[in-house]
Amino acid sequence: MKTVSPAEVAKHKSKSDVWVIIHGKVYDLTKFLPEHPGGQKIIMKYAGRDATSAFEPIHPPDIIDRFLSPEVCMGQVDAAALDAVEKVETEEEKKLRIARENKPKLAEMYNSFDFESVAKNVLKPDAWAYYSSGSDDEISMRENHNAFHRIWLRPRVMVDVAKINMSTQMLGTKVSMPLYITATALGKLGHPDGEKVLTRAAGKRDVIQMIPTLASCSFDEIIDARTDSQTQWLQLYVNSDRAVTKKFVEHAENRGIKGLFITADAPQLGRREKDMRQKYSQEAPDEMDNETVNRDEGAARAISSFIDPSLNWKDVAWFKSITKMPIIIKGVQTPEDAVMAWRNGCAGVVLSNHGGRQLDFAPSSIEILPEVIDALKREGCDPKKDFDVYIDGGIRRGSDIFKAIALGAKGCGIGRPFLFAMSGYGDQGVERLLELYQNELEMCMRLMGAPTIADITPEMVDIRNLKDHFVSNPTDYLAKHAYEKMHPRGNLSKL
Ligand code: LAC
Repeated sequence: MKTVSPAEVAKHKSKSDVWVIIHGKVYDLTKFLPEHPGGQKIIMKYAGRDATSAFEPIHPPDIIDRFLSPEVCMGQVDAAALDAVEKVETEEEKKLRIARENKPKLAEMYNSFDFESVAKNVLKPDAWAYYSSGSDDEISMRENHNAFHRIWLRPRVMVDVAKINMSTQMLGTKVSMPLYITATALGKLGHPDGEKVLTRAAGKRDVIQMIPTLASCSFDEIIDARTDSQTQWLQLYVNSDRAVTKKFVEHAENRGIKGLFITADAPQLGRREKDMRQKYSQEAPDEMDNETVNRDEGAARAISSFIDPSLNWKDVAWFKSITKMPIIIKGVQTPEDAVMAWRNGCAGVVLSNHGGRQLDFAPSSIEILPEVIDALKREGCDPKKDFDVYIDGGIRRGSDIFKAIALGAKGCGIGRPFLFAMSGYGDQGVERLLELYQNELEMCMRLMGAPTIADITPEMVDIRNLKDHFVSNPTDYLAKHAYEKMHPRGNLSKL
């Protein structure tokens, strides 16, 4: 392959002639520019330069081979020559470097919220926007955790709690505690090793990791990062091209995946305005302002156009014909659909509103859990034996896990908190957070008089207020805490 100098690449930085460097190779993206699902602005931001750091977190590793014809590769750049290019630190980079150098010590992290506040400062703004955003007014996102506040505990005393054993089984795998690291997309936005960080920490602490379809690392890289005894599940976005999905599912089974979690709550990706705004406002040359194709929908939508909105209950039979893995429907939000999953022969459900990122005003999973368990029992299903009910969304404390188990969940999926721990502190951060959850749950079980998971019963929680939704003033809350303000430009900024 021809060697191209960085100086040569730098000459090609106009819209009519644009080259970028990705993973040491030089690509002429002039023709591809209007087609780029993520928009033209971001390519022009890196025109004539190394775009690897922006490209890597949000593109699957094989995407270049799939979308670009070989002749647009103009050659390779010598790594030493690339290193020698003077790197000018932007204001944004400087701010992040200082935040990272001054972040608190890992030992100062006492709970999952601590990791979140560190992550807000050390993540690049686009990464923070993508990870932290919920849909629309973010009501469901906040409700997910708030709902746990409406459940109070009924502790039993005078029980021998000298030893606490929180190990349990999930889909036949013995795990150290009733939680798993759930699937979250684009791990490399938070850490250069992406999802592999979560794999390694899960392996060390003996919990299950659910691998996301939209990971930044390739599926095989994540599998290769596990230990021999480690169990992984797969979260599946079903592709409109079922041949692609079939190949992926078969490959996953061959590589030892122990559960197929089909995501059902995202036939269209929700509107996460924080993510959309962030993406739209990325710096770009003025000439790009009149971009004709509207691609300003945020990272999530840009990467998810392949998801099949026609997915329906009839497809379960097809999945059962192509795999022996247990099939679990992820994103169930009513007792009716939990019953449908049972009737269609699924192995379980995950009650989830997708971290409040999909339908705003979808209920929290903890709120519907008791109704789901009742409905399943009425169908003759025993959720303790025949069918696994998991929940995710808003689980931030060991006591949240306790409440979910009391109300009939087999285990809890936790997503964002692990991304935040990973973003600030890598492997050690994730391990520390797992340890904190373990410590919190152990204390909760001891103070509740429940030495084993089997001792945690519905009588230990008071759910009389669970259905009472407190309505806060969303505009006020969002304006103060979550929404990124509009940044008026042009004439508007002079008003
Ligand atoms: C999201 C998808 C991609 O919530 O799972 O961003």
